[in-house]
Amino acid sequence: MADPGLIGIGNVQEVHHTDNTVEFQCERGRVRVTALSDSIVRVRATQAADFGPDFSYAVARTSWPKAKATVRTGREITLATKKLTVTITREPLRIEFAAADGRVLNADDPARGMGWDGARCRTHRTLARDEMFFGCGEKTGQLNKRGQSFGFWNTDNPSHTYLNGEIYVSIPFLVSTRPGAHYGIFFDNTHRSFFNLGHVEDEKHYFLEADAGELDYYFFAGDSIKDVVRGYTELTGRMWLPPRWALGYQQCRWSYMSADEVLEVARNFRDRKIPCDVLYCDIDYMDGYRVFTWNPQTFPKPRELIKTLRKMGFRLVTIIDPGVKNDDGYAVCQEGKEKGMFLKKPDGSWFTGNVWPGECVFPDFTSARVRQWWGQWHKDLMELGVGGIWNDMNEPAVWNHPGGTMPNDIPFEYDGQWVTHKRAHNVFGFNMARACHEGLRALRPKQRPFLITRSAYAGVQRYSLIWTGDNHSSWEQFALSIPECLNLSLSGVAFCGPDVGGYSWNCTSELLARWTQAGAFFPFFRNHTALGTRRQEPWQFGPEVEEICRRYISLRYQLLPYFYNVFREAAHDATPIMRPLFWEFPDDAHGYAVDDQFLLGPSLLVAPVLKPGATQRAVWLPAGAEWYDYWTKEKHAGGQYVTAAAPLDTLPLFVRSGSILPMTEPVEFTSQKIIDEIILDVYPGKKTVGWLYEDDGESFDYETGAHSLTQFTWADGDLEIEKKSSGYRSPVKNHRVLVLGREQ
Ligand code: GLC
Repeated sequence: MADPGLIGIGNVQEVHHTDNTVEFQCERGRVRVTALSDSIVRVRATQAADFGPDFSYAVARTSWPKAKATVRTGREITLATKKLTVTITREPLRIEFAAADGRVLNADDPARGMGWDGARCRTHRTLARDEMFFGCGEKTGQLNKRGQSFGFWNTDNPSHTYLNGEIYVSIPFLVSTRPGAHYGIFFDNTHRSFFNLGHVEDEKHYFLEADAGELDYYFFAGDSIKDVVRGYTELTGRMWLPPRWALGYQQCRWSYMSADEVLEVARNFRDRKIPCDVLYCDIDYMDGYRVFTWNPQTFPKPRELIKTLRKMGFRLVTIIDPGVKNDDGYAVCQEGKEKGMFLKKPDGSWFTGNVWPGECVFPDFTSARVRQWWGQWHKDLMELGVGGIWNDMNEPAVWNHPGGTMPNDIPFEYDGQWVTHKRAHNVFGFNMARACHEGLRALRPKQRPFLITRSAYAGVQRYSLIWTGDNHSSWEQFALSIPECLNLSLSGVAFCGPDVGGYSWNCTSELLARWTQAGAFFPFFRNHTALGTRRQEPWQFGPEVEEICRRYISLRYQLLPYFYNVFREAAHDATPIMRPLFWEFPDDAHGYAVDDQFLLGPSLLVAPVLKPGATQRAVWLPAGAEWYDYWTKEKHAGGQYVTAAAPLDTLPLFVRSGSILPMTEPVEFTSQKIIDEIILDVYPGKKTVGWLYEDDGESFDYETGAHSLTQFTWADGDLEIEKKSSGYRSPVKNHRVLVLGREQ
């Protein structure tokens, strides 16, 4: 059945081609199919007479010089690369993507294909019986997105639950897999868009659509999900290696109300010997919520505060929101208005809307000039020694307008193209993060920036990590953070995490203990909670929970060399830090359904306890390895469920056989001492190897070779050490070998 709203693209009337591009004039639109590489093909379609300017915020790479394709025209047209054959039929136009061996990966749905519904563009695609979907950025709900439908419209949604579609981030990138066929589709359209992944009556097709604009998507083929994700990040970019301290534990609250309170929290961490690297200033550090100011009463001497914190081993991260208080006596507002940096209404007057400071004006971050100006405003914060910046409310949230955001007719520069909010909305947060990132890079070129954002679009990994916004202190939200972050990780954003302990509502001691145990293995590890809720620092829940938190936070610090290895992989080739089981074990069919466990790097299997009162849980051990219980060192075969004991102080944690975990003695913050001894904890397997990646942990010198990589092999009771690269002078003098946690 054809879709009643859809006006199909129709038959092909003309075909033109060059080496790697075929262009079609159809009855109702133009279509261009371009091979960018052996495994990446782009499809663009427009109902206009011609294509618009080729412009995308998400795409980092625009030059693909090596793309080699062969085009054959006949009854059908084929565009073939080494890995992909794209076949296009003429009456009507339908596109099919097949692997080099002829296996069809995916195709236009024969009945519907692509087309238009008024201004909307849509592609209907075939859905295989055993097809599963992952990725899709920051979405709640189950890990496998098959059968779900959701929109992409960045939304400040503090009461979101298990199945809310539109939340803070839009990454319209889909990963599809079924035995023997893997592909990805990046649907690059910044208007409100919509994925229906088989939530249709016949369950035989799925569709992707956007409110307006061109149909513009990239098809990624690969031999595995790994290839698909790597292809996507080849196009949209990869994260940089964050400063090493960013891997540490972070404590936040809305808000620590004064410098004294921040220092008191800091002292508590050190007195109680709970490791911590980062403290946050939420909005109350500012003067009347005016960004780039400090409250003179409560934070009178920020330089001294930051200095004292640094001596204690803490970095301070400050929040910066996009809303600039509409106050002509305030420098940011005044200068921004003089220079025309803020968004205007179609009639030319300033657009204003309410957020924390009351009435605000908003920078147009889709303008290079504005981004540069905004970036420079971080100068004082950087000179004061602030560790990094937290970008919030950048969906953008505008409370007193319908839908909680700007009206759709507000004009945006969109880097020279002048569009309305309809097209710019989903890239507002992305471009705010970009402005901040570029500012930080310019202001402190020798230091890796640290930046967290709530809202984002595809490609944001080049500029910022993502935290998943306002969750609740509930078991449901704790559980959903696992598939949410796993899918974000498959969508290019490897550095991500939720508010540990939950943001709104009061956390209980049991929930905090369980969430901190699990949070210790998320890439971004920050405890945060809202104004008016129970205090959430680890010591607020009695000595037992404090001890549990101390133990797990400390374990993360002991595992820091392992974490750093894994972060380096993410920066290098977009390998997720936090991985679904199928990333490492694609042949283990059951792993695709497991959304309450994850792998941290290649070796650690984490099975959080997600139910109140539980003292044990079933853990799926993926087939393809043997598994050691981290606590008891008992060895289990893979491919089975085991029941792991989980009294409150125990997080079920397993180590893959054949791993060597590089660790250190416990520290209270990442830079507490020079690490001159690495502990190598060996978990023997058929082949037992481990790695140690090192660099200075703070500059970009690693990009030009200042890093060292050491490989360890354990065989017959002996450790072999092999330097793979040595551009960085490692302080490590000693390797202490443990086997299954025991001294040798
Ligand atoms: C938003 C943020 C939250 C923050 C609050 C106050 O709700 O998501 O993390 O604490 O604003 O700044």
